[in-house]
Amino acid sequence: MTEIRRGSLPQQTFYELVGGEPTFRRLVHRFYQGVADDPELRAMYPEEDLGPAEERLTLFLMQYWGGPRTYSDERGHPRLRMRHVPFTVDRAAHDAWLRHMRAAVDELALPPEHEQQLWDYLVYAAASMVNTPG
Ligand code: HEM
Repeated sequence: MTEIRRGSLPQQTFYELVGGEPTFRRLVHRFYQGVADDPELRAMYPEEDLGPAEERLTLFLMQYWGGPRTYSDERGHPRLRMRHVPFTVDRAAHDAWLRHMRAAVDELALPPEHEQQLWDYLVYAAASMVNTPG
């Protein structure tokens, strides 16, 4: 009989726990709907089509939470703070970004402990992206 030792099975990742790719696609799709309807925040996004930006953020979050590493295969090391330098991420932009993300997280209706874990990270990450006072 094959013995399965305690601890020998891989831990389930947060990515898997919350439902994998479809969950992250729903989250970021909903987020970008909010961006599209917010003229001030929308003005920060250089591309006419938000689709590619939606794809980049989706792939980044999937990778961050233990899913496939497609983001880094396509984009290299995330270096997110550096990638945001061209944009004026001030308090207003930070607040708008988080407001749309909050609406998107709410719609996932995750179990409370997973929702909290995801939200805590997003709050922390958004604060670390601020690069302009005021
Ligand atoms: C705090 C407010 C934030 C603002 C105003 C903001 C704004 C932007 C803008 C304008 C872009 C360029 C769109 C594109 O070409 O992809 C971008 C890219 C990106 N942002 Fe943010 N962002 C914020 C926070 C965050 C946070 C917290 C994360 C991660 C949790 C994040 C992850 C990304 C990623 C992965 C990209 C694409 C990077 C690339 O591969 O080029 N952003 N962001």
